[in-house]
Amino acid sequence: MWKPPERIKYQTTVEQWPTKQEAAKSHVYSALSAPNLCLEQRTWVPAMVPWRASEEGDVTQNVIDWYARFAEGRPGALVVEATGIRDIPSGPLLRISDDRYIAGLQRLTDAVKEASNGRTRVLIQLIDFLTIRRRPEAEAFFMRFLTVTAAHRRALQMEHASEAGVRQRLASLSDITLEAVLSLRELESLRQGYRERITDMHLSAVAALPETLPTLFSQAAKRAKAAGFDGVELHYAHAYTMASFLSATNTRADGYGGSREQRLRLPLEVYEAVRAAVGEDYAVGCRFLSDETIASGSDVDDACFFAREFARAGMDFLSLSRGGKFDDAKQPKVGWAAYPYTGRSGYECMPSYVSDEQGPWGRNTEPVASVRNAVRGAGFVTPVISTGGIHSFDQAESLLVEGKADVVGLARQALADPDWFEKVRLGHGEEVVLCRYSNYCEGLDQKHKQVTCELWDRAALDAPDAVLASDGKRRLTAPKWFPEGT
Ligand SMILES: Cc1cc2nc3c(=O)[nH]c(=O)nc-3n(C[C@H](O)[C@H](O)[C@H](O)COP(=O)(O)O)c2cc1C
Ligand code: SF4
Repeated sequence: MWKPPERIKYQTTVEQWPTKQEAAKSHVYSALSAPNLCLEQRTWVPAMVPWRASEEGDVTQNVIDWYARFAEGRPGALVVEATGIRDIPSGPLLRISDDRYIAGLQRLTDAVKEASNGRTRVLIQLIDFLTIRRRPEAEAFFMRFLTVTAAHRRALQMEHASEAGVRQRLASLSDITLEAVLSLRELESLRQGYRERITDMHLSAVAALPETLPTLFSQAAKRAKAAGFDGVELHYAHAYTMASFLSATNTRADGYGGSREQRLRLPLEVYEAVRAAVGEDYAVGCRFLSDETIASGSDVDDACFFAREFARAGMDFLSLSRGGKFDDAKQPKVGWAAYPYTGRSGYECMPSYVSDEQGPWGRNTEPVASVRNAVRGAGFVTPVISTGGIHSFDQAESLLVEGKADVVGLARQALADPDWFEKVRLGHGEEVVLCRYSNYCEGLDQKHKQVTCELWDRAALDAPDAVLASDGKRRLTAPKWFPEGT
């Protein structure tokens, strides 16, 4: 992963935690009563893919155990990982692309409700993504994947040579010469692996996204409701299809790109289709970016505009992330796919303890506060969820007290210690296992390996409740917490 050149190392510490009485009176532990979204406390575990579904995208016992473990900590809301809405092979990523997935997802929502004693609301994040391929061996790229064009022949002065001859010649060229012969997209396919974009209008499936996506999302949302989820979160963030529509880099000329209004058009149409499918009395919101943090990307002003329009359209919540784009991703190794959290924008999404003067915590705080101000300024009360580096009670409380957020999201901190919410609520804050922001978990995610935390995955491996990862070396869920004195 990219790291700021300053390489300043930070250590997570917390000076003080509230007593049980202080917690009871706090904003963090006050209820949120918004239309369609009532939370017992203003805490939220954002979506995190743990790579535990079956190859067919089914809920497995490991998926259930993972979410039940978060639910034992009783956060206000728990968002189930990015879940695929298309019925296509996607590896061990959860899917909701057909009615056959409903029964498994129902087991998952039942498990969350049981483990939290009905206290945690459970939502699911719905994702669409375009095709991405692994970085090829150069030999395979030139001999098989590359389409030989007239432009290549012209550049090589090989107009009448056989295709095999052109391929051989291309394979023999230096990097510098290739830059003059291949197009930018061809170079990218060679160096990063082929990746579709929403601007690839020559691909009929991409051109037709405005026709196909509203139905795909709305059918998925209907299934989520049938499976007992309390709501759906439309994934409009990071490197995926819907975020690409919102992006300032979206130059589609079919009325769905260019100006901010046109970039917003499909995300709103998807929302309207989802709303029509699930009804007015069901929580529908989205996750989007406070800032893409890439050159020529959307910024906080865009995010404020999008947020106002999402609120106006009737979304029930707005959850803000940051960065996480393919545009500045590092070159993957041969045989690996590009990963959108390896560049600077990836760092902004999941900052690590090796940072700059600003440090790894709270980088999303002020941008989200601006977004919330914009929403309130336009007269809407839509709850805004702020996530990024939150690990202490004081941090969370001040965001709420200062009106910078309505709900606080803890992703890696909840992974490091799913009991954070109960420990702090009960006055046991000093027992919290603090996230180091090491990004060991994110490294596992990058390799599509079962995600665990380095702070607990080797602990008590022989305990009766320890289910081991497929490598046999790590436990898959955090050890149970037994409050001192019990
Ligand atoms: C292992 C892992 C998987 C993630 N998967 C998702 C995901 O499926 N959808 C999403 O919107 N964000 C995902 N994220 C980003 C987090 O939700 C969150 O925005 C990010 O970690 C920053 O918050 P934090 O500082 O509290 O960890 C993931 C993060 C991690 C560490
Ligand atoms: S591995 Fe654990 S400590 Fe490291 S960033 Fe992930 S959750 Fe935090």
